[in-house]
Amino acid sequence: MVQDNDKLAVLGGTPIRAEPYPAWPQAERAELEQVGRVLEGQRWFAGPRGDDPESLGVEFARRFAKMHGADFAHPVANGSVAIEIALRALGVSPGDEVIVPCYTFLSTATSVLMLGAIPVFADIDPRTYCLDPADVARKISEATAAVIPVHLGGQMADMPALQELCKGKGIAIVEDCAQAIGAGLPGGRAGTWGQAATFSFQSNKTITAGEGGLVMAGDPEIAERLRAFTAFGRLAGEGAGRSSAYVSQLLSSNYRLSEMQAAVLLAQLEKFPGQDQRRQENAAYLNQDISQIPGLEHISDGKEESRHGYYYYLLRYQPDEFAGLAPQRLAAALAAEGVPFLPGDTAPIYHNPVFRPENLTQFLCPEVLERYRTVVNLDDPGCPQAEEACNRTLILRHQVLLGSREDMDDILEALAKVRRLCPQLTDK
Ligand SMILES: Cc1ncc(COP(=O)(O)O)c(C=O)c1O
Repeated sequence: MVQDNDKLAVLGGTPIRAEPYPAWPQAERAELEQVGRVLEGQRWFAGPRGDDPESLGVEFARRFAKMHGADFAHPVANGSVAIEIALRALGVSPGDEVIVPCYTFLSTATSVLMLGAIPVFADIDPRTYCLDPADVARKISEATAAVIPVHLGGQMADMPALQELCKGKGIAIVEDCAQAIGAGLPGGRAGTWGQAATFSFQSNKTITAGEGGLVMAGDPEIAERLRAFTAFGRLAGEGAGRSSAYVSQLLSSNYRLSEMQAAVLLAQLEKFPGQDQRRQENAAYLNQDISQIPGLEHISDGKEESRHGYYYYLLRYQPDEFAGLAPQRLAAALAAEGVPFLPGDTAPIYHNPVFRPENLTQFLCPEVLERYRTVVNLDDPGCPQAEEACNRTLILRHQVLLGSREDMDDILEALAKVRRLCPQLTDK
C-alpha cells in the first residue's frame, strides 16, 4: 500500500493497515460438539453440590488444576463470586480488613464489601502494575485478615515478598488470577501461592464461556468449604434422613457453573496451550523492538524465569515523548492506524462511586462503616503510582497477540509513526 506517511490516520492520513486483528471470543466445531452433547443428554447441571464426579464442570476443573500444578479446583459462576466464596471459606468476616490493589477490575474490592468486610486499597509497583509489597506492609493492621494480589494483565505479583509479609500473622492470601490463566513464577503457577485463588472465564478472558469462574485451594478443609459455599452451604456427608446432598450447614447461595458453560470451557482448554504459545512468541518478538522506541516500556517484572499470562500487553509511555497526550487520545490515534490499542484504566477503582461511604450505608453495619471512613480515606488514598499509571498506559488485548509476525510488525510501525507525528495532535 502506498502510504501517506506524513499524516496521522486520525487526521485523514493513510492508516498503516486496514485488515482487522483476530477477534475474541472464538468458537469452533469443538465448542459446538461439546455443548451439543450436553443438550442431548440428561445432565444439564453438576448435581446438588456441583461436584458430581461425572460432571463436565468437575472434569474441566480437574484438568485446569493440573495445568496449574494445583491440588484442587472447583467451578463457580464467575470470577467475582469466586473471590467472595474464597474469602468466606477462609473465614473472613464482617469488619475484617482485606488489602487489595487499587489498579484492577473493581470486583476485586467489591467482593470484599459483599461480605461486610473493608477493602483497604494499596498502591502498585510501577514496573509490574501489581500490588507493591512495601505499601501492603504499610497498610497491614491488627484487623487485616487477607490480602488479594491481582496478577494484572497476566503479570504475576511478587508472591514470594507477599508470602513473607503475611507469614505468621494469620493473614490469608487469595490470588485473584482472573487475568492470569497459565501464568507463573519459579516455584509455582498462578493459583498455587496463597491459601486460595480465583479465576474468571468471562468473555474477554483467555479461556471463556462468556461467563464462568473457578476457585482453587491446597488445604482439603478449605477445598471442602469452597465446594460448600458454591452450592447453598452443603457440606459433604452431613445431615440425615433425606439425601444428605440437600442439607445445608453454612449460609450461602447458588454459585454453580452450568454444564453448558463447562462444555465450552473444556473445548477452550484444549486450544489454550497452542494459543498461549503463539502469544508468548509474539510478545517476545514485540518486547525486543518496543524498547527501541524511545519513551515506551512493556510492563513486566523483566525476569526471564517468570511466565506472563499475556491477558494484556501493557505499555507504559513517557508523556513527553508523545506530545503530552492522554492515553485516550493516543489509543485513538493508534486505533485509527488499524491497531486496536485501548487506553489503560482511566482511574484507580476507589474513584468509583460505589466506594463512597454514603453509598454503603445499606451494606456495612454502622460500626464497620465508621471504621471504613477512617481506614479508606478517599480524599487522600495514598496510591500515587496507580494515579500516575492512569495517565500513561496503553493496552493491547490478548487476541491481538494471536496474529501473524506481519501483524506484530504493523504494531511496531504504528507506534513509531504515532510517536513521530503525534505533535500534529496537540494543536487540534
Ligand atoms: C482482576 C479481575 N478480578 C475479577 C474479575 C471478575 O470476574 P467476572 O467478570 O468473571 O466476575 C475480573 C474480570 O472480569 C478481573 O479482571
